[in-house]
Amino acid sequence: MARKFDTRYPSIDDLRSRAQKKIPKFAFEYLDGGCNEDVNLLRNTSELRDVQLRPNYLKAHNGSSLKTKLFGIEYDAPFGIAPVGLQGLMWPNSPEILAKAAFEHNIPFILSTVTTTSIERASELTEGKAWFQLYHPTEDRLRDDIINRAAAAECPVLVILCDVPTFGFRPRDIRNGLAMPPKMSLNNILQVLGKPNWALETLKHGQPNFETLIPYMPKGLDLKQLGKFMDQTFSGRLNEEKIKPIRDMWKGKLVLKGVASEYDAEEAIGLGIDGIIVSNHGGRQLDAGQSTIKPLATIAEKYGDQIEVMMDSGIRSGPDVARAMASGAKFTFMGRSFMYGVSALGKKGGNHTISLLKTELQQVMEQLCCENTKDFPNHLIK
Ligand SMILES: Cc1cc2nc3c(=O)[nH]c(=O)nc-3n(C[C@H](O)[C@H](O)[C@H](O)COP(=O)(O)O)c2cc1C
Repeated sequence: MARKFDTRYPSIDDLRSRAQKKIPKFAFEYLDGGCNEDVNLLRNTSELRDVQLRPNYLKAHNGSSLKTKLFGIEYDAPFGIAPVGLQGLMWPNSPEILAKAAFEHNIPFILSTVTTTSIERASELTEGKAWFQLYHPTEDRLRDDIINRAAAAECPVLVILCDVPTFGFRPRDIRNGLAMPPKMSLNNILQVLGKPNWALETLKHGQPNFETLIPYMPKGLDLKQLGKFMDQTFSGRLNEEKIKPIRDMWKGKLVLKGVASEYDAEEAIGLGIDGIIVSNHGGRQLDAGQSTIKPLATIAEKYGDQIEVMMDSGIRSGPDVARAMASGAKFTFMGRSFMYGVSALGKKGGNHTISLLKTELQQVMEQLCCENTKDFPNHLIK
């Protein structure tokens, strides 16, 4: 059941506005921005919202349930929390806050390799239910070690990423000199001074670190050395040669995130992958690319009975989740929506955002006369 949410923030947009006021500009812009001119970012939401649904008002209605099965697990809603890097920069402890809220609401939480809590801690907070997203390490030894840690933490699903063959070109982050830990230029110091709650919380929790990667990082790296370490340690471009050993090693479900073409969906099936997330990284990689709702429809129709097809990028509400599901997604994920929630409301932000989305989605289902989440496609106006 959806729990109560704070009625002062009844939309993701309200949370976004509040987050903008609460956290320093460099952190907000890192979260909020797309890439280049933000065309893909804006297209994701606007084209998703072109999808229209048909209600059946006179049909018998026996109640609507958000419960959705994925990979043999029954979740309480058809949406989960997408992996987001550097979460502690937006709000201290935010990955822990979200992992806990996801566990309490029985929805999936995906931990990023480059966020600020570890695989082991995420697993502890979710009693082994957190998924893990792996950035591909250049060295086999490191890859095997991280995968073994995810398996030891009883992580049910490993997510690998194909849409970061190069770093996205993000003018705001370049202007802000974004780095980890944040670069304390005069400009950034002034921004922090203007956000006393954020500064106090950050002081209380200490400087955020890449917790999963600590065992592999030389101590005392300065900023420049840290950037070099990341570049040398991970290579984003995936191919068959890199995916095969992961498939052989990983006994749980394996998901490929970042699929935006039929070609990649077909390759994924050939490589024995269990699910794909049709995603363009929330519009942060290819500004000239399509919105995700466009390839979703064709990919789901063609391959939906061979592989679990999920979707993210641009979803900001219950009706958006319904639109994606009606267009063929079996499950959906959101990145920014949850981070706006935590940046706006701190430790209450996880529960608030999930409750809000559940309430909105329940309303849409009852309005449509859609009893089960798998029935959304029956309501799509083609
Ligand atoms: C600030 C930020 C950092 C992200 N970091 C990662 C990451 O480390 N790994 C990853 O697989 N995806 C990452 N993503 C992409 C998200 O997992 C997801 O695909 C995207 O946020 C979905 O779009 P939405 O924000 O419109 O919901 C990041 C997204 C944002 C906004």
